[in-house]
Amino acid sequence: MYKGILEGIFESNGVRTEAEKIAYLQGLKPDMNKLFDAFRSNAIKVDYGNENIQSCYLIRYFPIYTQPIIDVMKKIKEGGRMIRMSSADLVRLVFIGPGPCPEVVGLLTIINSYKKNINYEICLIDKYIDSWGYSRAIAYDKLILAIPDSGNIALETCEDDFMDANFYSRHLDKFGNSDIVVFQFCLNETQPNRYQDVITNLAKIVAGLKDDRMLVIIERLGYDAMVNLIKNLEKYVVEKDIAEVLFSIDHQAYEPQYHDIVNDIPSVITDNLLDGVGWSNANGRIPSRKVSYRFSAIKKKKAVE
Ligand SMILES: C[S@@+](CC[C@H](N)C(=O)[O-])C[C@H]1O[C@@H](n2cnc3c(N)ncnc32)[C@H](O)[C@@H]1O
Repeated sequence: MYKGILEGIFESNGVRTEAEKIAYLQGLKPDMNKLFDAFRSNAIKVDYGNENIQSCYLIRYFPIYTQPIIDVMKKIKEGGRMIRMSSADLVRLVFIGPGPCPEVVGLLTIINSYKKNINYEICLIDKYIDSWGYSRAIAYDKLILAIPDSGNIALETCEDDFMDANFYSRHLDKFGNSDIVVFQFCLNETQPNRYQDVITNLAKIVAGLKDDRMLVIIERLGYDAMVNLIKNLEKYVVEKDIAEVLFSIDHQAYEPQYHDIVNDIPSVITDNLLDGVGWSNANGRIPSRKVSYRFSAIKKKKAVE
């Protein structure tokens, strides 16, 4: 995965020679530190629109952030549940807050491992959809299109705010036609005074799904208010008998370490962005290998005939 990411970053920045690659990566060090500090503190806001910051996100977080949705889908399958598809060769997916789209890469990769030559209709909705264009294009060109034996991919992007009171109604058709709706690592950005709007929107999304279709929410650990909000959503949809909770957010925290991915980091990164010391570097310029998360999988119930 790093090969595609680096190729995309270098091509997009007109970086060609070895000397230019080294200089480019060394020049990213301050931005990598900024991104790391922002993620350690809930209070620090990071400028995702800055392309250097996005390059750092692609290097530091993107590869391991492709993995949680893969784990989640495997757990759902192990639980005897399958993905319902729109048709034998078509899957429709909606991603909210995908930013550079690691969960899109992950979900397409796991679906592809189950079934080849699937066509996809994908809708990406993000409050900062244009700002993320640089890294999304790299993910799309170098990783999504590189998934072998994929069918056609029709991609639609949309700028919108999941906290907005009219969010659901603006995308009613998309939600109503989708096979899976995914929120990964974005609900935690909800402002506390907007929790009620968000839970209302989530409940409408579940109610608006077709039978047997799923809402999957994956959240990093450390955002207890979000866990409570999602627990309330699960309770509501069960009480109203509109959905089944396949996996509750309350169930268990997962903290897998993805050593294989990190061991794959090319030396041009470790030598020039990580000061050659890889993991032992304490200043933050290390790619994370661990993702700590919880998830909720909610499946719309079949209407009673
Ligand atoms: C930490 S990034 C996560 C990106 C991606 N899902 C991942 O797993 O790497 C948070 C994402 O949520 C988006 N976001 C934040 N607040 C949002 C809102 N109110 N409505 C829609 N998207 C939002 C940001 O633009 C960003 O893409």
